[in-house]
Amino acid sequence: MCGIVAGAFQDNVIPFLLYGLKQEEYRGYDACGIGFLEKKEIQIVKKIGRINSLVEKVQNLKGNIGIAHTRWATHGKNTENNAHPHMSMHRIFALVHNGTIYNYKEIRTSLMQKGYVFYSQTDTECLANLLEYEYALSGNILEAMQQMQQRVKGTYALCILNKEEERIYFMKKSAPLIIGIGKQGISLSSDIRALEQQDFSVDLDEEEYGYITKENYFIYNQNQRVTKKEKPIQKNRFQKKEISMDCYMKKEIFEIPYILENILKKYENGFSAEIINLFSQASKIVFIASGTSYHAALIGSQYFSIPTEIYFSSEFITEERKIHSDVLYVFLSQSGETMDVLKALEFVLSHKGITLGIANVENSTLLRKTQYSLQMHAEAEVAVASTKAYCAEVLLLYLLAKYDKISFCKENILLIIREIKEHLKNVESIENIAEQLKEKEHAYFLAKGKDYFLIQEASLKIKEVTYLHSETLYAGELKHGPIALIDEGFPVFLLGNKENNEALLSAREEVEARGAVTYFMTYDAKQDLGFLPLMTDFFLLAFYLAQKKGCDVDKPRNLAKSVTVE
Ligand code: G6P
Repeated sequence: MCGIVAGAFQDNVIPFLLYGLKQEEYRGYDACGIGFLEKKEIQIVKKIGRINSLVEKVQNLKGNIGIAHTRWATHGKNTENNAHPHMSMHRIFALVHNGTIYNYKEIRTSLMQKGYVFYSQTDTECLANLLEYEYALSGNILEAMQQMQQRVKGTYALCILNKEEERIYFMKKSAPLIIGIGKQGISLSSDIRALEQQDFSVDLDEEEYGYITKENYFIYNQNQRVTKKEKPIQKNRFQKKEISMDCYMKKEIFEIPYILENILKKYENGFSAEIINLFSQASKIVFIASGTSYHAALIGSQYFSIPTEIYFSSEFITEERKIHSDVLYVFLSQSGETMDVLKALEFVLSHKGITLGIANVENSTLLRKTQYSLQMHAEAEVAVASTKAYCAEVLLLYLLAKYDKISFCKENILLIIREIKEHLKNVESIENIAEQLKEKEHAYFLAKGKDYFLIQEASLKIKEVTYLHSETLYAGELKHGPIALIDEGFPVFLLGNKENNEALLSAREEVEARGAVTYFMTYDAKQDLGFLPLMTDFFLLAFYLAQKKGCDVDKPRNLAKSVTVE
């Protein structure tokens, strides 16, 4: 989703901004733009589409103070006018924004009544003009920002250029923003990946604001200067180093066994007493997650002996929802930044619930805000479609469920890992299926019982990266309607246990009799986690099909790696 990078440098900052944007590409975006200072004027260059086309336009330009952005369209279509940076009407300020301004219509209307003209359909443009308006009243930018903070309802990470000063102002509320410190100068970004060329980082907390110069940074909270700890930035974390592959999704699928071994090593001696207490004292566990993480929670929760409930984070907050003190609320998220997850967390925290955050991204908002936290240790996942993080989440939940008998489970886990390795060696049959699906427009995935949770993830993965329309069904429900669509060549995947799969077999007969092409995929349900090798096959199938169809495997259209809007 949207990404921000900004810098105040001793030399030309534009190469750094372009590098940062590239690093944030994996998040998904529709347009990009750069703004920089040139002789006390703000210059802006925007492009719809990929960063490479922006690079062509700006590579010969120079500026020491600049802001840049990748936009994932929410308010208004994907046009250059709607792309960031947005300039204030009198060209005094330009800003880039991540987040959503809920009351932007009201602000926009009131500024229009004061004579302001708007050129975009975005919520962001009202911030540029509101800041200009407040600045005209007070003559002080920090004061104008504070006024803006009070007036605006919503979420934001903002980086602001002012044409008069060699500074970048910033503000933050419920959207990540980090300061980077290095020899070249000071920077800001919504994503640590963009700051890899810098030496130290400082995390900004809620409602903090301030500015950076080429030499220093100044953070304020309610008018008070704040000092913070600088942390060293780990270098080269996100390179395709361990396994060299042409794209991240493939690399990440092939990393699955290694990631699972790593997680097992990290937790084979058990969890901290604090975490064990949480699980041993809870009367129930409520899992809250989105997308693939939700699917991992569905399947992973099965291993717990106490009652569990699983919710989509976007469906968790309702008027009737009660938060109980004896329930453990577990938030599962690869990125730790999914807005729906964070909103649900806010809700639970405000009702004094006990929360545990499980996320892959170190220092993510989720891990910082929950009372208890666990890191997933799946290493950086870059492809938008989540694969290795799904397996990591499932394993971690399994280990948590078996926290008092991990040593007994270890052999079985190692066996599953070996099986996954075998599956990854024999990809030919999967490639063949992908070849057969190339021209298809629809597919069904059938399963029974808990296996339904598995096909939900398999089907999602296919949808995400190949754009093939696929639907999941309980096998028994097929004949009550959906069978109407089956005709010659319709692909149907059936997933089930190696034994006791009569219902699936009869579903297969029913669809084959009507011309369907079927793929019967089984696993050993007697083994805990026995489905993981099969899920790896589905991930590979999604990958090969996407590649054969010429799709942008790592950056599927319309999707974002971490969805930071509601
Ligand atoms: C987005 C991604 C999905 C991901 C979901 C939840 O929709 O495109 O791949 O599963 O967010 O992400 P999280 O980081 O919270 O696990």
